[in-house]
Amino acid sequence: MAAPLVTDAHRAGQRVGLTFDKLVIDGGKPLRGRVDVRGAKNLATKAMVAALLADTPSTLLDVPDISDVKVVTGMLEAYGVSVASPEPGTLILDPANVERAHFAQIDALAGSSRIPILFCGPLLHRLGEALIPDLGGCRIGDRPIDFHMDALRAFGAIVDKSYEGFRLTAPNGLKGAFIDLPYPSVGATEQVLLTAVLAEGVTELKNAAIEPEIMDLVAILQKMGAIIWMEPNRTIFIEGVEKLHGYTHRALFDRNEAASWASAALATRGDIFVAGAKQQELMTFLNVFRKAGGAFDVREDGIRFWHPGGALKPVQVETDVHPGFMTDWQQPLIIALTQAEGVSVVHETVYENRFGFTSALVDMGADIVVHKDGLESITRRVPRRPLEQAAVITGPTPLHGADVVVPDLRGGFSYLIAALAARGRSTISNVGIISRGYEHFGEKLEALGADFTVES
Ligand code: EPU
Repeated sequence: MAAPLVTDAHRAGQRVGLTFDKLVIDGGKPLRGRVDVRGAKNLATKAMVAALLADTPSTLLDVPDISDVKVVTGMLEAYGVSVASPEPGTLILDPANVERAHFAQIDALAGSSRIPILFCGPLLHRLGEALIPDLGGCRIGDRPIDFHMDALRAFGAIVDKSYEGFRLTAPNGLKGAFIDLPYPSVGATEQVLLTAVLAEGVTELKNAAIEPEIMDLVAILQKMGAIIWMEPNRTIFIEGVEKLHGYTHRALFDRNEAASWASAALATRGDIFVAGAKQQELMTFLNVFRKAGGAFDVREDGIRFWHPGGALKPVQVETDVHPGFMTDWQQPLIIALTQAEGVSVVHETVYENRFGFTSALVDMGADIVVHKDGLESITRRVPRRPLEQAAVITGPTPLHGADVVVPDLRGGFSYLIAALAARGRSTISNVGIISRGYEHFGEKLEALGADFTVES
């Protein structure tokens, strides 16, 4: 169904003042230059929700100008939080006058974001009620919210499902709980953290996600007055406190954006300095990048990524929870792998449907076969459900221009890279979706010497 996607893309683009929804790219030119990467989409948006828990204002620094941040800003404002931006990249969030919002307003604002569900705990604490619309986000699998709702029930919330979403109440308040996640879900771990910090008593969370963005959220909550500690084997304890105050925090850099530009350098035989990228959160990516034949140099203020010449090498990759290879890194990397000499295999184990974007790449000349039931795989660290898929990429295959439609955020960025690496002209539609997670990508492409024009 093309129509809803077009609407989502336009809305997302409009939120950050994007004046175009189509890029016409003349590929075959290496990307060279510098891009600046700011705070992570997957941290900044959650840090904004955390501000709701405080009784004084919070200041978040390095906030990216992306549409998901605009969505959360709108939602916070609907709940009476004042959100000021004294300068680009800085948000001051004042929760002094938190109040109820109309469901229709929240529903309209939530758009295509997954963040609204994280408002549950903070709203239950502040207002005793949370109304959560049906969620959007990238169409990369079923994306259920059962872990979230089970966790909230364990805290004592009552969850009523209506045709328009969920209504949660907590007539007896929220109490610390024992929660053992069936899978180390990022969102469910954040849900537990944001709920447990003000719940009465101690919460023990087993099988928690430990992504760097989660650790940064824990750091923020600790700054706010929370008591949180970790034990081995993915266990987090949270001792509820009576109140929290505002924080000042510089958001962790966006490692997904950094890995995307790195892959763009490799696929286009270019050379990109990603200012703001740090080694520690990218170690797993850097190993794969090096094995595939990419070169990098870690500096004080960022990381330089480049194609050192010669042939790229095929790799075997399995996406995983942290510290594994992130599911959000596979899409841009796959473009570079189409240029490697030999057969690469990428197993997707986090989402059940995250290779849909590859069919357009085949139209552009790539040799990619998706095995819906996966292939025999290497030893695993974390037990998980049997929903993996495998993409087998045989290279090198020259890519040629094509007309493609952005299907989701990461797949969409990989189309940009493919078009930039391809010979000839490509038209990429629905690029508004890319503004959900990539700040000022048009300006950045221009700075890197990409040859493109825009159409609305
Ligand atoms: N899952 C369930 N039930 C739940 C929650 C999750 O079955 O209640 C499943 C999901 O369907 C999925 C797996 O658990 O198969 C992992 O999902 P997780 O909850 O970890 O993902 P998320 O919190 O929805 C965040 C990022 C994603 C990123 C994943 C994995 C945000 C807003 N989104 O999603 O980012 O891929 O963690 O690291 O933080 C993106 O940035 O493009 C993006 C999709």
